[in-house]
Amino acid sequence: MLCYCRTVTYCSIQFKNGQFGQKKETLLKEKLQGKFIVLDGPDGCGKSTQAELLTRWLKDQGVPTGSFRDPGDTAIGEKIREILLNPEHLAMSTRTELLLYMAARAQLWAESIAPALQENRCVVLDRWLSSTCAYQGYAGGFGADKVIGIAADCLERIWPDLTIILDVDLNTASGRLDRQLDRMEAKGDGYHQKVRDGFLQLAKDRKDFLVVDATAEVEKVHKSLIEEVNIFF
Ligand code: TMP
Repeated sequence: MLCYCRTVTYCSIQFKNGQFGQKKETLLKEKLQGKFIVLDGPDGCGKSTQAELLTRWLKDQGVPTGSFRDPGDTAIGEKIREILLNPEHLAMSTRTELLLYMAARAQLWAESIAPALQENRCVVLDRWLSSTCAYQGYAGGFGADKVIGIAADCLERIWPDLTIILDVDLNTASGRLDRQLDRMEAKGDGYHQKVRDGFLQLAKDRKDFLVVDATAEVEKVHKSLIEEVNIFF
C-alpha cells in the first residue's frame, strides 16, 4: 500500500488536472499537512532559494504551508539575529552564540511554528537545531551531544519530521557568497570545513536526515529535493 501511495504521488506532478491527478493531489496533501521540514547546510549551499522553491511547490500542490527562517522571523528573533551576525561582535564566545540561537528558536517556535503546525500547515524552515549542532557543536567545539541536551531542556520539540542537508563543497559555497560576509560567514575555511563535516556526520547518525547534492544548478537541486520529499513521506 505504501508503494502505491509513493507511485501515485510522483504521477500527481505530471497529471495534475485529470481525475486521477486530483485523487493523487489529495493523497499528497494528506501526507504533507502538519509536517515539519527543515532545509539546512553550510553557508552558500542555496537553502534559502530552495526553501522558497519548496514552499511554492507545496502551495501549488494545495498544501497549506508556513515558511520561516531561523534565527529570525519574529521581532525578538530578528534583533537576536542582528547581534549574532554583526561583524563587530568578534568577542562573542561559542557558548553565547549557542544560547542566542536557542533563544531566537524558542521564540520562533512559540510565535510561528507551533501555531502553524496546529493549523495543520506544512512548515518549511530555513535552518534549525541541525545548524547549532554543526556550527557551535562540531565547528565551535562545544559538542553536538551537549547542544542536543540543551535543546531538549529549552525547546518544546527538537527534531523536525525531516531535515534535508544541502551539501556543497567549500569552493562552490564561497563562490556563491560574493558580498560582504557576516560574522559567522567570515569565520574562515577551517571552521566552515568542520561545519560541512558536522552536517554530514549528523546525517549519518540520524534516520530523519537526507543529504542532497547542492552543487548543481538551482532547478536540478529543486527537482531532486522534491523527489526526496516524495520518497521520504
Ligand atoms: P542564514 O544566513 O543562513 O540564515 O544563517 C545565519 C548564520 O548563522 C549562518 O552563518 C549559520 C549560523 N547559524 C549558527 O551558527 N547556528 C545556528 O544554530 C543557526 C540557526 C545558524
